[in-house]
Amino acid sequence: IEIGWIAVTVLWGLFMFFFMIAWHFIGQQNLSTETYRVQPHAYQARVEAFAERFQVGEENGTPVVRPPAGEDVYMLARLWEWWPIFELQVGQSYRLHLASVDWQHGFSLQPANLNVQVLPGYDMVLTVTPNKTGTYSIVCNEYCGIGHHMMLGKIHVVE
Ligand code: CUA
Repeated sequence: IEIGWIAVTVLWGLFMFFFMIAWHFIGQQNLSTETYRVQPHAYQARVEAFAERFQVGEENGTPVVRPPAGEDVYMLARLWEWWPIFELQVGQSYRLHLASVDWQHGFSLQPANLNVQVLPGYDMVLTVTPNKTGTYSIVCNEYCGIGHHMMLGKIHVVE
């Protein structure tokens, strides 16, 4: 009888293992990301040019940037901030670029609970379509030193 239970356990284990792969296709939980190599200073220049082009305001010294719908939007992570602040329109899609210019950081969008590792040297691109207005917080969920807990960013989603 024991061998029966062992067989059940093994089969269940195998089932769960293969289901991880199935889940990738049917679960809609995986972000479809494109990733490109990028030099940190080149990425920083790109983000700065983007921010300058679409800046509409400022909050505590950080530019607030309102890009047109469909646009590529660039955010950079560095010790210890997410820069700049976006103002996006609800229901519109954007190509969100994320890269670090120094260390490894964790992009965690709250309360939507979207999580992405952010690394220097890699430009991660994900298509986002905000479906609810409000102010979203970005917290860093990868320990990055003394200012880690203060590494906060913001995205405003407006009509
Ligand atoms: Cu950036 Cu922790």
